[in-house]
Amino acid sequence: MPYAYKSQSIMARARVYDLTQHDSVELVSMGDLHTTSLHADFDMIRSAVAWLGEKKNRYAVVPGDIFDTAIKGSVSLDLSERGMSSKDGRHLLANLMQPVASRFLAIISGNHDDRLTRDAGSDEVDALACHVGIGDRYFPEGEAFLCLKVGKYKHNEQAVKYNVYMTHGNAGGRLPGGKANSLLALRNIIHNSDVYLNGHGHTPMVLPDVAWHFSDKNNVIEQKQLFISCGSSLKRAGYPVRKGYPPLARVWPTITLHGGHKHMSAHIEH
Ligand SMILES: [Fe+2]
Ligand SMILES: [Fe+2]
Repeated sequence: MPYAYKSQSIMARARVYDLTQHDSVELVSMGDLHTTSLHADFDMIRSAVAWLGEKKNRYAVVPGDIFDTAIKGSVSLDLSERGMSSKDGRHLLANLMQPVASRFLAIISGNHDDRLTRDAGSDEVDALACHVGIGDRYFPEGEAFLCLKVGKYKHNEQAVKYNVYMTHGNAGGRLPGGKANSLLALRNIIHNSDVYLNGHGHTPMVLPDVAWHFSDKNNVIEQKQLFISCGSSLKRAGYPVRKGYPPLARVWPTITLHGGHKHMSAHIEH
């Protein structure tokens, strides 16, 4: 008999959020803030925080590059572009996030954040999350599996469940094609998520797609899926100018997850 390794039945556990007090949930993807850069757009961050506070059904996810960390050896190292230390950035961001801290469902680090952890042993993203009292919302492994339960339970009906997968991503470049391919390739990590989110590319994108699955009853069923590249609040100045990177729209897509029946919609304010 050929060798076969034993498959583990549980690879990870999804973090379940009971949001059944809401008929629908709005979720903003606050990608690539790069807060310690001289070119961080704090007006955009402030307006997203204000948006969160306006309604109780509004939530956020943060897919990494929260801080801008160009250190010795980084391609983008230019000390003249450093806006503040990571500690000052953390304090500033903590003050902004504090009033709506409970609305942040998942925070992961990006390659910029990881440089500090790797080279200095100081995890600023963990410190930020703990600072605002949501240390448990930080996923230090760099990916988040979420299950969001939306909509009030009615009679025997269950709340609608949305599975969400988020990671920082690693596809950059000048043009959107490679970033779109990389976004769709998240399905190779887990095939049946309803929503996929990544950051890193700084290009906001919303790609509706479908996947077909065999059902337990020998049918082939279609699943609607939404792929979101989360955008960035970093302005184009310094490194991207010198390297000839194009300007990008500074928007964070929002998605609405409806209760009652499974239905997702995406929105870009531009
Ligand atoms: Fe970034
Ligand atoms: Fe990145």
